[in-house]
Amino acid sequence: MIEVNTSQLAMDLENQFGAHNYHPLPVVLAKGKGVFMWDIEGKRYYDFLSAYSAVNQGHCHPKIVGALIEQAQTLELTSRAFYNNVLGSYEKFITEYFGYQRLLPMNSGAEGDETALKLARKWGYKVKGIPENQAKIICCQNNFHGRTITVISMSTDPDARNDFGPFTPGFISIPYNDLPALKKALEDPNVAGFLVEPIQGEAGVFVPDEGYLRKAFDLCKAKNVLFIADEVQTGIARTGRLLACDWEEVKPDILILGKALSGGVYPISAVLANDEIMMTIKPGEHGSTFGGNPIAAKVAIAALGVIRDEKLAENAEKMGIIFRDEIRKINSPHIELVRGKGLLNATVIKPFKGKTAWDVCLKMRDHGLLAKQTHDHIIRFAPPLIITEEQIHEAVGIIKISLEELS
Ligand SMILES: Cc1ncc(COP(=O)(O)O)c(C=O)c1O
Repeated sequence: MIEVNTSQLAMDLENQFGAHNYHPLPVVLAKGKGVFMWDIEGKRYYDFLSAYSAVNQGHCHPKIVGALIEQAQTLELTSRAFYNNVLGSYEKFITEYFGYQRLLPMNSGAEGDETALKLARKWGYKVKGIPENQAKIICCQNNFHGRTITVISMSTDPDARNDFGPFTPGFISIPYNDLPALKKALEDPNVAGFLVEPIQGEAGVFVPDEGYLRKAFDLCKAKNVLFIADEVQTGIARTGRLLACDWEEVKPDILILGKALSGGVYPISAVLANDEIMMTIKPGEHGSTFGGNPIAAKVAIAALGVIRDEKLAENAEKMGIIFRDEIRKINSPHIELVRGKGLLNATVIKPFKGKTAWDVCLKMRDHGLLAKQTHDHIIRFAPPLIITEEQIHEAVGIIKISLEELS
């Protein structure tokens, strides 16, 4: 194995031997702790992406890493062909934690979404009585639910779809944050579920109108349609509540979680639902070799424990208010808009003198803060939820000086 001791060598290797399915910011990270990461040369950065909200608990949290190491040395994987001595207690823990009767454990967020879609269809046929192969799911324009063929069949983003057809049928796509459109789509008696992100993260942190989730939920209930929340990015304290749906006291019929369910140390996703939905799936009808493995179970218990013990939802709410207030005070021709909830925030960047959001990210990198643009002109700011007020002020100082230097 080549010893990679410079950033340039690491980037050269990735460029030469890896698929070019990402366009990373040129920085090569070698270490992380709490809200910080360090590059190969030892320069320190604030992490304002948190691996797309997977590292809510901060990098290398000792309790989560400890759980991983201990379980990895004891029993790593059994597959679901057998029982193991950890999964049941994880299932009890997580269902009590979120208030559901059952868990279906998977690995990635996209798999969580796929699982929820299968559950909704199965429920549609077995419980609601939709005629065979007629079930439909309502989804929202500009959604992001992952990268599998079925999931991109719901996408409206040309980059996600182009040259990947043919697509999975059975979706009705409506505008986000549009209750009349939802009401109309719900008139179709074959609709089994409505899949929605409580805040559209990848689309650029689009926060819907207050009351949207509650009213959407009520509309679904009136038509016997499942309300399915994709909280892969918004969940687990990111928006200042344990779930973003908690802001409107909505309890989804199917809840999808991922990312921060492991604090970033392991790919873990979860689908939670009650018996009427979950028990429609029978042995052999769905699964995953790694889903619910003993390491994942122990890691998720530790990661959720940290969220509660360290009151990270409360901190995210408080720090988010300070962050948005401070960013709004910055007087820059680049800033068009600041929006967000808790520590899921975004700034819409106006191109100015030929400089774009990418240039802003490069400048912030030079000053020691890492964030990444989404859709060319929006920068998401989502630090680990353990960030302190002092660190927020220092980070805002870096953002401010970066914008000043550009304009
Ligand atoms: C809301 C949402 N759902 C699903 C996914 C897909 O998760 P994964 O990349 O783990 O498949 C993402 C990833 O960003 C997401 O933001």
